Amino acid sequence: MDRVESLVELDRALGTRRESLIALVPTMGALHAGHEALIEKAKSLARTTVLSIFVNPLQFGDSTDFARYPRTLAADIEAARRLGVDVIWIPTAEDMYPPGKKITLIDPGPLGNEFEGAIRPGHFAGVLTVVSRLFDGVRPRFAIFGEKDRQQLELIRRMVKPEGRIEIVGVSSIREEDGLVLSSRNRFLTDLERKRALGMYRAINHAQQVGGDGVAAVNAVVAEELIALDVEYSQLVDAQTWEVVSNDFSGEAILVIAAKVGSVHLIDNGLVRIG
Ligand code: PAF
Repeated sequence: MDRVESLVELDRALGTRRESLIALVPTMGALHAGHEALIEKAKSLARTTVLSIFVNPLQFGDSTDFARYPRTLAADIEAARRLGVDVIWIPTAEDMYPPGKKITLIDPGPLGNEFEGAIRPGHFAGVLTVVSRLFDGVRPRFAIFGEKDRQQLELIRRMVKPEGRIEIVGVSSIREEDGLVLSSRNRFLTDLERKRALGMYRAINHAQQVGGDGVAAVNAVVAEELIALDVEYSQLVDAQTWEVVSNDFSGEAILVIAAKVGSVHLIDNGLVRIG
């Protein structure tokens, strides 16, 4: 496995590998089984798998949240090696955002201000800006993202033109045995908070069970399951348009939920067939 930092090193490591397909797995490190599934997907699609690790300051509104983000670089490098990653790219902030060079943020459009974007202003502009720089550096054929961050996945799909050269591939969320969706932030939960956080998973399951009874039925069970949580948002959106659905909607919807559990911001989502 080649370990590189600067764009020049990355270019050198990719060299002749550019002649065949490359899949990129962009991450902020603190790798867990969810990331492993992304890497496995990348390996199944392309001859070369590139894993990037960069904790992107632009997508954190709050500098304490940025400072607190878990960093487990030695273990991440070990995991990447074990999983058969070909190139691990760990740029510094200066590599990604050269000092003195103006950063032009990518506008995520109106959806970027909804849901996760409403409680973390500027977050998605930061995500899209770094993702487009990662794409420019690697020039992959495939880029792999987890469905846990479903809104992020949607916005990245919208950013990459359909006629473009990069195919955005989503991979299903990986859950703990009890249903908690894997997240680098789970390590900050106490046992009690972890139990409370499961309300989000129960809400998604229950919503999926009653989806046939329509939007009002789904909204009622979701409210019931989330009652003990400090909910930041919980909405049923049209899976195509991301508009909040009205009561007469039928078709595929996504239930997106965020809650503050203790000091930890958690998100989850699930596909719900309505009607
Ligand atoms: O999902 C993440 O880990 C990050 O938002 C990403 C896509 C690597 C951009 O920093």
